Amino acid sequence: MFVTVVLFFLATLLFWFIFSSGRPENFPPGPQPLPILGNLLEVNLENPIAGLETLAKRYGNIYSIFMGPRPAVILNGIEAIKEALVNKAADFSGRPQGQMVNHAIQIKENAPGIILADYNSNWKEQRRFGLMTLRNFGLGKQSMEQRILGELQHITNILEQSVVVRKLPLPFQQAFKLFKIAREIYHEKLDESKKTRMSGTPQHFIDCYLDEVDKRGNEASSFSENQLGSILLDLHFAGTDTTANTILFIFFYLMNYPEIQERCQQEIDDVLQGKDQACFEDRHQMPYVQAVIHEIQRVANMVPLGVAHCSSKDTELMGFSIPKGTIVIVNMKSVLAEEGQWKFPHEFNPENFLNNQGEFVKPEAFIPFSVGPRMCVGENLARMELFLITVSLLRKFKFIWPEDAGEPDFTPVYGVTQTPKPFRMKIKLRDTTRV
Ligand code: HEM
Repeated sequence: MFVTVVLFFLATLLFWFIFSSGRPENFPPGPQPLPILGNLLEVNLENPIAGLETLAKRYGNIYSIFMGPRPAVILNGIEAIKEALVNKAADFSGRPQGQMVNHAIQIKENAPGIILADYNSNWKEQRRFGLMTLRNFGLGKQSMEQRILGELQHITNILEQSVVVRKLPLPFQQAFKLFKIAREIYHEKLDESKKTRMSGTPQHFIDCYLDEVDKRGNEASSFSENQLGSILLDLHFAGTDTTANTILFIFFYLMNYPEIQERCQQEIDDVLQGKDQACFEDRHQMPYVQAVIHEIQRVANMVPLGVAHCSSKDTELMGFSIPKGTIVIVNMKSVLAEEGQWKFPHEFNPENFLNNQGEFVKPEAFIPFSVGPRMCVGENLARMELFLITVSLLRKFKFIWPEDAGEPDFTPVYGVTQTPKPFRMKIKLRDTTRV
């Protein structure tokens, strides 16, 4: 009798657990979650993309899964994503708070930086100040172009002088350990700037920010030294892996599609002729090169799940109810390879970005930098870097897949940002005497 009562009690408890972790009313559909674990067993955390695609086929473009006990909505396809991030931007531009990553990245509590800051007036103020200051230092302008070209000269010299086969390192393996080191470097830089700075004549971002901290004085403001630290880490982390990994993909694809590499070089030679250096304006005369870079960005799918958003109030999306505080994740591949949006959604083909006249066109579904008020702060800088680096290196060098390297594996290594698997490349100086 006692055993029966205990079993009955346990069964009731289990039943209650299963059905109490259900979805709120009119919430997007999805697989039944397990108590505590949610749907974590159904999604391969090492590479969730394929699992998320399967769920989209079963439940549609907007569905939900439980990450542990917390529900998250997954958005697929340009229509649902634009509806949330653009048309209902005020409802869907928050960031989830209280996650482990919030603590790992920020310099101190209450210094959320930009990327992980929630959608509020402080985030707006910090993002606006950051963008304005970067623009004042040349972001997207000619002065930045000169800096990028200066760096490139350095790389070109090294490549010209060195052995022809070099290993490209994967740049980010120990990200978490590096946060600590990055913080230490930040404190050193801050101390250095405090000693050398002259108020009113800022030399760089840190000086500008410290001027703003002084200007605000003691007023309750979102500007502080801790906040400066978090923003510098944000810009550093958001701006390095993304661009560096895209460049790895560019050379990986160009080596494995030598006819595409040659066609780019032909266009570069025709446009640059006797000019010393490329400039960003040249892109308007290089539709094919532009199409190739964009196509590689499309297939590389650099930030596959973007940065998680969060609903900032009870709201609705595509007929479903979304309570305040719901995590919202964008599946970028569902747009970057969406059928109906691309001529060749499932193959690598620069024609995706060319019209019948061979002109460069950018389809609406090209959203590697996301859309809406939270879209990437560094898009212009990244586009300038990708163009100048690709054009300058292709003009000088031929990139060759080594004979003994075997078959290339195009499957990216999954992560917050994706990379190609480590590879070697053979680099030969081109004969540029004919240009
Ligand atoms: C190929 C290069 C890059 C790609 C593909 C990329 C992509 C992205 C994506 C998908 C987001 C998330 C947007 C969202 O939440 O909806 C983002 C945010 C951000 N990116 Fe980039 N990014 C790149 C380069 C850069 C660079 C060079 C910088 C800085 C100089 C930068 C700074 C940021 C910042 C600060 C945010 C957070 C914006 C906010 O939360 O308000 N990114 N980026």
